[in-house]
Amino acid sequence: MKKTISVLLAAVLLFSLAACGSAAQTQPASQQTQESVAETAALYPTEEASAQEAAVTDEVSEESGREILVLFFSRTGEQYNVGVIEKGNTAIVAEMIAEATGADLYEVLPVDDHYPTTYKELTDVGLQEQRDGARPAYAGELPDFENYGTIFIGAPVWWGDWPMIMYTVFESTPLSGKTLIPFSTHAGSGLSGFDRSLAAAFPECTIAKGLAIAGTDAQNNPDKVRVTVTSWLSELGL
Ligand SMILES: Cc1cc2nc3c(=O)[nH]c(=O)nc-3n(C[C@H](O)[C@H](O)[C@H](O)COP(=O)(O)O)c2cc1C
Repeated sequence: MKKTISVLLAAVLLFSLAACGSAAQTQPASQQTQESVAETAALYPTEEASAQEAAVTDEVSEESGREILVLFFSRTGEQYNVGVIEKGNTAIVAEMIAEATGADLYEVLPVDDHYPTTYKELTDVGLQEQRDGARPAYAGELPDFENYGTIFIGAPVWWGDWPMIMYTVFESTPLSGKTLIPFSTHAGSGLSGFDRSLAAAFPECTIAKGLAIAGTDAQNNPDKVRVTVTSWLSELGL
């Protein structure tokens, strides 16, 4: 409920700012972009506000065994405080996890890539999808989950939640008996309840302790992030 209120407040403030933005239209485009990015980021729910934890397991049990999969969604183009990027922040973390665990990697891609490559416009589309409860279609076939005992699931935090396309994946993927491990990249909101929503979507799976990485660190400070990822994996027994 707290998260919903935060997101709604953020949305209202964002739209108020947009409504009184005529002065901004006289500014140079680059300055406008930087300012609107800063304004937008300041409106996100903070990590503290979303720090409530799900019942998660600390260690991945041997029985969950079999192969490991890292399934993720990530965007390139202009992203918060990193300029225009060629590899998505979440993709960078996903690759680190796969490299360290020997897991297979699977990227969730939209069937029609309607997402803008400018940050402000992308945040608008993401917010509208959340308000509409949209279920954007993903491209191609998902992997055969039968082969996997442990599945890392990662995405950028979008308005305090998973991007809606991830719910399309969750709802078309009946999973039971697996260990699911969430991870996010974000601009201040941490894991944003990814663990709780995974637990709600997959009540017959075990949810292990997730990891939240600042998107700016993933992009600009990968060595530091690799150390964090390695230590998290070792806490999980992987
Ligand atoms: C639509 C949209 C909504 C976002 N909402 C949040 C948010 O609520 N909290 C937050 O900390 N960051 C938010 N961000 C920032 C992203 O989570 C962050 O930049 C992330 O690292 C991007 O990862 P990617 O390159 O893998 O897509 C948002 C970004 C977008 C595009």
